[in-house]
Amino acid sequence: MSKFKRTLITTALPYANGPIHIGHLAGVYVPADIYARYLRLKNEDVIMIGGSDEHGVPITLKAKNEGVTPQDIVDRYHGIIKDSFEKFGISFDVYSRTSAPIHHETASEFFKKLYDEGKFIEQTSEQYFDEENKQFLADRYIIGTCPKCGFEKAYGDQCESCGTSLSPTELINPTSTISGNQPVLKETKHWYLPLDQYEPWLREWILEGHQEWKPNVYGQVKSWIDGGLQPRAVTRDLDWGVPVPVEGTDGKVLYVWFDAPIGYISATKELTEDWETYWKDPETRMLHFIGKDNIVFHCIIFPSMLKAEGTFNLPENVPANEFLNLESDKISTSRNWAVWLHEYLEEFPGKEDVLKYVLTANAPETKDNDFTWKDFQARNNNELVAILGNFVNRALVLTNKYYDGAVPALGELSDYDKEALAEIGKIKAEVEKSIDNFRIRESLKNAMDLARLGNKYLADEEPWKVVKTDPERVNTIMNICLQITANLTICLEPFLPFSMDKLRGFLNLGKMDWEHFGSTELLPVGHQVNKPELLFEKIEDATIDAQIQKLLDTKKANDAANAVAKPAKENCSFDDFMKMDIRTGTILEAELVPKTKKLLKLKIDTGIDQRTVVSGIAEYYQPENIIGKQVSILVNLEPRKIRGIESQGMILMAEDADGSLKFVSPVDKVKNGSEVR
Ligand code: 2FM
Ligand code: ZN
Repeated sequence: MSKFKRTLITTALPYANGPIHIGHLAGVYVPADIYARYLRLKNEDVIMIGGSDEHGVPITLKAKNEGVTPQDIVDRYHGIIKDSFEKFGISFDVYSRTSAPIHHETASEFFKKLYDEGKFIEQTSEQYFDEENKQFLADRYIIGTCPKCGFEKAYGDQCESCGTSLSPTELINPTSTISGNQPVLKETKHWYLPLDQYEPWLREWILEGHQEWKPNVYGQVKSWIDGGLQPRAVTRDLDWGVPVPVEGTDGKVLYVWFDAPIGYISATKELTEDWETYWKDPETRMLHFIGKDNIVFHCIIFPSMLKAEGTFNLPENVPANEFLNLESDKISTSRNWAVWLHEYLEEFPGKEDVLKYVLTANAPETKDNDFTWKDFQARNNNELVAILGNFVNRALVLTNKYYDGAVPALGELSDYDKEALAEIGKIKAEVEKSIDNFRIRESLKNAMDLARLGNKYLADEEPWKVVKTDPERVNTIMNICLQITANLTICLEPFLPFSMDKLRGFLNLGKMDWEHFGSTELLPVGHQVNKPELLFEKIEDATIDAQIQKLLDTKKANDAANAVAKPAKENCSFDDFMKMDIRTGTILEAELVPKTKKLLKLKIDTGIDQRTVVSGIAEYYQPENIIGKQVSILVNLEPRKIRGIESQGMILMAEDADGSLKFVSPVDKVKNGSEVR
């Protein structure tokens, strides 16, 4: 018997500086949702907490880049994130945000209590300060030359070229990205949580007391602790976040990783007045669902904060996942290398469960995994359609065909029938064993075994043949198939909630608790089922190819953006340059050169004359859109014949990083024939 009466599930609060992608879903939200739905089906007392993490430097940087406020940024992404979670069916009991007043209050009080009780150490250190803007600079606001590789745009915390972790004072020629000036070192005071003091306790609590935690989690915690813990600053000089609730600390806020996990507490307060029961009653079991990059914060820092505070429970388990890659490449918001949830929902309407299924079947539980569109298609077509959809469809179609939809009575059972029915209970036990141990991926496989069982039973028993020789026997076969189908609605409910809702509609059946799973009498004799529609549809190659093309386009755009400008050519003399006679001219006529795709025949008013020029720009400009455009033209280029047309000069074009061509035109209109030099 478990010593817990209820469960508090927290899910990592996503940063509100970008939308949700499949990496977030596979790592955190889908497994947490499955687990929460499973406990709810078991009628357990469970709440699932979520919210947006709205503080931190990257959000202020994004705001600065876009010329808007940080609040504008978080409002935008909080909206997108919340909406996409809702549509996707992640069943949060509350989805809050850390810019909410209740959170500021809660985080502030939490800090104040630790401050008043002397749980922090105060330390003064020198940090870079921008004198023009009168502000201390977060690491990301400082760039300079990497001392390791010489890259000139390394950040104060990391060189993105060689990957080295840096501190801002290591940069050569540090520059403030706000003013462009060289920052100066200035003393500033901050508060630190002395993690070193918690080390013996952490060792005992986790390394001795929680050896059952997943090996990836336990291993990471052990290596942090063995590496020696240092005091961690819990405040920052920044103007975005929860202000430090201490007098004389203007311009200082709580470090985002101090306030974010407290967001779980604030969100619970938002959900229920009874929040303390979920946080402080020892009979509540707290679980943190997170990705592996959050392990240190949830297993070492936040627990130390809770321990220091003294009245809160500690997590009972932290089933962190590894990372999901996309088509063999790391998912990246800044490189737009992701499958975005809000886009998926638009492009694959009604297929929420397909994505949930694929992300669970391929979950990065023990190691990093790869999402590929081909695998997505294969799992849909070969598993959801061919096994699950096919079985329930045949069971329902045959019931309608043979019995007008009324459930037939069981007759005498063969050994094989008995085995099949007994198998349902065994599958239930397997699903429970794996899900109870956070092996969600395995639990889905176990659950799908029930559909496999049904499919095999139906294929082996062949009621469509037996009906011709022994119609009585078919009653038993179909009853068994229908009972398996009804059991599926319970067994797969945590994993495929939309589809099971649909299936219950076909079966004319209400939602049932987990405890009914295993019963072979879920559908009474005579119960009327409906005519089914398809539970899942095949996904065609063209759909998948379009998604792959979308990713290829992203790659191409990234490559173009990263392409470095070509090195300068060798010097030429002034006289050589002056030999070229470049003038401004206006395009009077434009037409495609027949039988070509790239060439336009242009008539240009050069101020000197009107002449014909053939130019290879048809891929970038429509003829009708460029009439009247002023351009630059090299008028003394030797005439040459192109496709039988004499071209008298050359239009100057700038080649962009992606190879596209743009006119080099005067910014303000000038007289045609003006010399360009
Ligand atoms: O890594 C992240 O995306 C963080 N925003 C997670 C925060 S989890 C919790 F502490 F809020
Ligand atoms: Zn470097």
